[in-house]
Amino acid sequence: MKQTVQVIRILCIGFACLFASQSYAAELPDAKTIQAAVDKAYKDYKTLAEGANADYIPALAKVDPNLYGIALVTADGKLYKAGDLATEVSIQSISKVFTMAKVINESGVNSIYDNMGVDATGQVFNSIVAIEQNQGAEMNPLVNPGAIATTSMVKGGDGKAVWDSILNYYSDFAGRQLSVLDDIYQSEAATNQRNQALAMLMKAYGHIEGNALEATDIYTRQCSVGVNAKDLAVMAATLANGGKNPISGKTLVKAEDVPEILAVMATAGLYDDAGKWLYKTGLPAKSGVGGGIIAVSPGKFGVAVISPPLDPAGNSVRAQKAIADISNALGGNPYQIIPH
Ligand code: DON
Repeated sequence: MKQTVQVIRILCIGFACLFASQSYAAELPDAKTIQAAVDKAYKDYKTLAEGANADYIPALAKVDPNLYGIALVTADGKLYKAGDLATEVSIQSISKVFTMAKVINESGVNSIYDNMGVDATGQVFNSIVAIEQNQGAEMNPLVNPGAIATTSMVKGGDGKAVWDSILNYYSDFAGRQLSVLDDIYQSEAATNQRNQALAMLMKAYGHIEGNALEATDIYTRQCSVGVNAKDLAVMAATLANGGKNPISGKTLVKAEDVPEILAVMATAGLYDDAGKWLYKTGLPAKSGVGGGIIAVSPGKFGVAVISPPLDPAGNSVRAQKAIADISNALGGNPYQIIPH
């Protein structure tokens, strides 16, 4: 009798799991629809000629403005793609999300909250005014001063050890070994006096404990890491999948800490245009001046587009349009609720 009850229990749990996985899969359209949405966004914006490459870092001005790649990875690890998935660009500010994730993973969600804060600044990403407004507090880890302070919080001993652990952490997110694009690093290191000034101000206000210029150099390296559209999509999908890389199966952030990361992306990921972006898409996202944008539809997918020409706020023109269209076609907006 006991055995029969046990068998029935196991069967019930099995059916419940099957039902749960079916209802989860039903949340996204089928593979054909997903690929069609990706293909359409590729085609619709391929010839769009708006925006311009960033040029305040000289090497970025030389990147091919026609480069255009889209990758979407579902939270269960399926890849959809269009365009150039091979060419690497520098990750730039998208790196800030993953250094924030590293610090949160090492020191907890309060570490970021208590140091530079988690509020949008309403200013450009390298604003000195944003520091002066609140003496380096009440900002966030996705603007340059907050990001350099975040890099300074990474554990690991000397600068080399800290850098190695950051690069390995990014590589785990991407699921392959990443490396620095040396021409970008040299170009940015030769012209990053403004970031050095931001870091020194953050040090003066007590937000950086160690050597502010060393933190700036590590930050410059992290911004110069080369990524293609697939790398970025896998990184985004890892966040969409609660901190576990859906392809390698490696857990990189505790699932309970992912909402805080996504919250900062939602409020500050596209800088002073973050509100407009959230209004249109509802997606936590992050842009970089290398031309990449990642966006996360929690529990569903991570999507990435690379296209170097930027709008005046520093966000890729094609990437914003392509991601918004793809997500809207797939029901990616987490605030979009089907009434009972
Ligand atoms: O520090 C900088 O200015 C660059 N390494 C990164 C800026 C960036 O990507 C801003 N993104 N939209």
